[in-house]
Amino acid sequence: MADVKNEILNLSAEINLHNYNYYVKSAPVISDFEFDQLLKKLEELESQYPEFAFENSPTKRVGGDITKKFQSIKHQYPMLSLSNTYSEEEIREWESRVHKLAESQEITYVCELKYDGVAIGIRYKDGQLVQAVTRGDGTKGEEVTANVKTIKTIPLSLVGNFHKEFEIRGEIFFSLANFQRLNDERESAGEELYANPRNTASGTLKLQDSKIVAERGLDCYLYGVYGEQLGFNHHSQAVNAVGDWGFKIPSSEKKMISTCTSIDEIMDFIHYWAAERKNLPFEIDGIVIKVDNYHLQDELGFTAKSPRWAIAYKFKAEQVSTRLNEVTYQVGRTGAITPVANLEPILLAGTTVKRASLHNQDQIEKLDLHIGDEVYVEKGGEIIPKIVGVDLSKRIQGLEAVKFIERCPECETTLVRREGEVQHYCPNEVGCATQIKGKIEHFISRKAMNIDGLGPETIDLLFSEKLIQNYADLYELSYSQFLNLERMAEKSAQNAIQSIENSLETPFERVLFALGIRHVGETVAKILAKHFKNIEAIQNATIDELINVNEIGEKIAISIQQFFLDESNVKNIERLKQIGMHFEIEEQEYASEKLAGHTFVISGVFEKLSRNELKDLIEKNGGKNTGSISAKTDYLVAGENMGPAKLAKAEELGVKIISENDFLTMIGL
Ligand code: IVH
Repeated sequence: MADVKNEILNLSAEINLHNYNYYVKSAPVISDFEFDQLLKKLEELESQYPEFAFENSPTKRVGGDITKKFQSIKHQYPMLSLSNTYSEEEIREWESRVHKLAESQEITYVCELKYDGVAIGIRYKDGQLVQAVTRGDGTKGEEVTANVKTIKTIPLSLVGNFHKEFEIRGEIFFSLANFQRLNDERESAGEELYANPRNTASGTLKLQDSKIVAERGLDCYLYGVYGEQLGFNHHSQAVNAVGDWGFKIPSSEKKMISTCTSIDEIMDFIHYWAAERKNLPFEIDGIVIKVDNYHLQDELGFTAKSPRWAIAYKFKAEQVSTRLNEVTYQVGRTGAITPVANLEPILLAGTTVKRASLHNQDQIEKLDLHIGDEVYVEKGGEIIPKIVGVDLSKRIQGLEAVKFIERCPECETTLVRREGEVQHYCPNEVGCATQIKGKIEHFISRKAMNIDGLGPETIDLLFSEKLIQNYADLYELSYSQFLNLERMAEKSAQNAIQSIENSLETPFERVLFALGIRHVGETVAKILAKHFKNIEAIQNATIDELINVNEIGEKIAISIQQFFLDESNVKNIERLKQIGMHFEIEEQEYASEKLAGHTFVISGVFEKLSRNELKDLIEKNGGKNTGSISAKTDYLVAGENMGPAKLAKAEELGVKIISENDFLTMIGL
């Protein structure tokens, strides 16, 4: 038995080392396949001998722990913020103040990047990660240990000559690539895009299901060590030491951290990153300058809110001013109204900007926008530029204030704004053409019912010919009705009919997503289907029963109930049920773990399987399907007409490229 325990320990140490090589050093020494084999072996041993499976096993990286309510924890050392400035002059003043207070001792500063994420404090005891707490109000934060343990660049067990007990602090963030991947997935699911990596990192860290956190792939840099008698005299010494214990520290070769002995060197560092930051794989919002010597730090001390021994220089977001020509309004498939600012085209951060999102009425009023105003436009972390203010010195007499519309721009129905909500809606769900068409388009979309024989133009035609009023009507269309449509060839009509019929095989979770219930995206639909098993159970669930399901909040629960209160929705579901659509989950007739631990990307068109079937097969066999190729991708299943860029990327990253047949052989079909 002692042998098994040792084997588990050795195997864990080996996996930890490879994990470190891969994620922290970006220099793997074994292949992904070999790594997966090691992990699998450990998982098997642990399930066979659960008594030896320890708390911080590398198998825990995949998450799985659910936190119902985050505990509030008092920080042992308060988590202060930094005083910050946008002015180089103020950095010079700070430096000369420090110099004066230090009574002209020689001073060394450490310049670091100011990572744009969320602060975290992580406690280690005897080399084991024991607790991770968010900043909160600086005195108390929330315990998010299970989620932090999924972050691959944070070691669970330390190596080397680590200190017995200490707390390490750093910043958790999304790399731009992972943020993009997350948004690509959301876009294809018709879900609202996340605005910027920082807020998304903050939201992700507070998800209740650590498995989702693990999938999203957060990252972390450490910037400070706290504890009793750690034996360090300098900040730079501490940073280097924790690098040897397994933490990810900034590279001095890449100039991500630098010691400076004069204000000129500090300024050089600031200027270097002001220009270079656009080439970093993650976002920074400034530079942090710290006094290196701990004794001197102590002498300088703190103000009420921040240390005197450090300061942050913040980069200004790129900003331009241009004229606001018009505000237009878009109607979404759920009736949500989005105001859009139409601008005089202008170049900003490398792209021409013509439009900016205005979010809602409050935003317009806060900015006090007038048509013809010269407005300041900024592109920070956000993908879509935003208006941050008005140049009042340029406001001409007589300009008209922007007044939010009262009626739907499509159907003229009076808009509503529910209490506590910021968005206006067109309530005419059954009569507003844009909403009706939007809902049907969503219903037929690839990730929903995947009716690929129909497109938005056909839906438009069918609707204007009054052949369809809702998605249930699609199933009553005849071949000749299609054929009678403008520019519809026989083959296309057959295709349309065939793909409508095929869609009856769609599994329940996708049918549920296709119904277009507000706030029920692809992931939520999956969770609901798995939990409630059929549509009646969802329809009959109380708000409390819904909220009790992981990841389902009040907003989603209310929206589900509202959906079923609408007679026409219930009627449509009834009609679809009659013709045999799946409104309950099928018992999984087929499943394996053959692809466990492997990540796939599919691209192109295939001969035997549709893309959705392929995706299902990957998931049913325990594999993971992702949207874009990254260093984490193991296989690219390549079909016909695959984009050359994808192929090149796969080759560059050494991703194995396989055919549809290779894939089927892999799973033994
Ligand atoms: S040192 C006493 N170093 O910036 C405060 N902070 O207001 C010590 N941040 O939320 C903080 N990068 O999480 C430090 N290299 C860095 C940092 C950094 C980002 C964040 C920090 C805090 C904020 C400071």
